[in-house]
Amino acid sequence: MTTPLISLDKIRQRYSERTVLDIDHLEFEEGSIVGLAGPNGSGKSTLLRLLAFLESPKQGTITFLGRPAQAKSTVNRQVTLLVQEPYLLKRTVFANVAYGLRIRGKNDIPIKVARALEIVGLAPTVFAKRQWYELSGGEVQRVALAARLVLKPKLLLMDEPTASLDAKSAELIHQAVLSARDEYGASLVIASHDMPWLEGVAERIHYLDSGRLVRTV
Ligand SMILES: Nc1ncnc2c1ncn2[C@@H]1O[C@H](COP(=O)(O)OP(=O)(O)O)[C@@H](O)[C@H]1O
Ligand SMILES: [Mg+2]
Repeated sequence: MTTPLISLDKIRQRYSERTVLDIDHLEFEEGSIVGLAGPNGSGKSTLLRLLAFLESPKQGTITFLGRPAQAKSTVNRQVTLLVQEPYLLKRTVFANVAYGLRIRGKNDIPIKVARALEIVGLAPTVFAKRQWYELSGGEVQRVALAARLVLKPKLLLMDEPTASLDAKSAELIHQAVLSARDEYGASLVIASHDMPWLEGVAERIHYLDSGRLVRTV
């Protein structure tokens, strides 16, 4: 059996004595597209923050490629979370997508940015020069997605990526998710309320209720 990309064991997360997540074991394979579903407050966003190593669980272990990993470790660079309402730098679309490449000293930035924009359905000739305030909500979401994809994360986590988007934008996000996996080699974990959309894109869906894993379909 291959080593999972990331696995959780005996995870408990508490906020001021209240247990909001209680998961005995859960693992995600490399190259998979997995959904998280469940009612409001069931723990989806909390689970994504743990998988992103943005916070540490009060109990339990999270293993990344076979090694126990901590929040704020070097693993962080290989994992990225696209939050529900991402914010952009107050600059052009190009500058937003190029930012992470610049600070990492990467080459071929214009080519990489153009490809990432194409993948999220934003024609570079139209959008690269646009300012952050010249974008619809769906376009902001996709610029934020391009800015993460371009860094080739091993694990891309998305929190309600289609909330408040129209059907056309949701379809573009669906296509971008497939490209993230097939072209950038990312594995994806996506929390969503939008069941038809999630069922269309995810290979498997874990259902949470009151912080517990209740079923996997
Ligand atoms: N930082 C926090 N401090 C206190 N309680 C929190 C915090 N984050 C989440 N919670 C609580 O944890 C529970 C799970 O929330 P969340 O993970 O956001 O669920 P979901 O994303 O499924 O709606 C909720 O009851 C929420 O109020
Ligand atoms: Mg949430």
